[in-house]
Amino acid sequence: MARFRGKTVIVTGAAGGIGRAAAARFAGEGARTVLVDVAAAGLADSVAVVERAGGEALAVEADVTRWADVQRYVEVALTRFGAVDAFFNNAGVLGAVSPLVDYPEDAFDRVLAVNVKAVWLGMKAVAPVLRARGGGAIVNTASIAGLRGTPNLIAYSASKHAVVGMTKSAALELARHGIRVNAICPAPIETPMAQALEVGVKRDRLTATIPLRRYGTPDEVAALVAFLASDEAAYITGGIYTVDGGAMA
Ligand SMILES: NC(=O)c1ccc[n+]([C@@H]2O[C@H](COP(=O)([O-])OP(=O)(O)OC[C@H]3O[C@@H](n4cnc5c(N)ncnc54)[C@H](O)[C@@H]3O)[C@@H](O)[C@H]2O)c1
Repeated sequence: MARFRGKTVIVTGAAGGIGRAAAARFAGEGARTVLVDVAAAGLADSVAVVERAGGEALAVEADVTRWADVQRYVEVALTRFGAVDAFFNNAGVLGAVSPLVDYPEDAFDRVLAVNVKAVWLGMKAVAPVLRARGGGAIVNTASIAGLRGTPNLIAYSASKHAVVGMTKSAALELARHGIRVNAICPAPIETPMAQALEVGVKRDRLTATIPLRRYGTPDEVAALVAFLASDEAAYITGGIYTVDGGAMA
């Protein structure tokens, strides 16, 4: 498939498990990719993965919670590639795993800054650029924690429910500009974030809640992201898509 030939795609959280797999998928289907993350070393590794697969990747080290950084990664994409066609708004943090009565206030603020404010800032910066192009696609990363309650993850739960709400509102606002906005809701996926979750919740207990009895892989998430960002999903906007082994069924 070459659904992204001649297109430019920005991926945030591109040093992480899901972001890296999505970047490789987009590049493998012909996209020029702009990889954004605050983690410089991981970002370089992601660029290497994309290039080894024969793709084109430009790394931008940026903190997605800072408006100046967000504007910069969009400007860099425009300067280098001339346009942006799709945006995978994916950077996120888990925060603390703790009962809500003990949950640290600074962790709560950080989770909301990365998982909520930065998702809005990303759409705020990218939407005008997509509009100038005549339309495009945004895929936000929520979670099954944005669809149901999750004990001991008060901030993460709040933040991912917020991503679902922002996705629907943005889809309604941006439809008239030809911009589609959808969200994905993964169950635990084999990435560093799932390992962080296992500090508080045992892996066996997590898999027991998943009908397919295993975590998902980053590639399985990337396949859904690429579909939603592609023209194959031309009639799909405001959608909230699980990729969860049946966990929400
Ligand atoms: N792994 C899972 O089990 C799972 C399940 C559901 C949803 N998600 C969501 O998927 C997304 C990707 O997570 P992942 O699983 O690949 O985890 P990950 O920890 O491997 O990747 C997250 C990436 O986001 C980056 N990041 C964090 N804060 C940032 C900031 N301020 N600026 C720029 N980059 C920043 C990190 O450096 C990291 O590379 C997140 O939004 C996460 O909440 C993950």
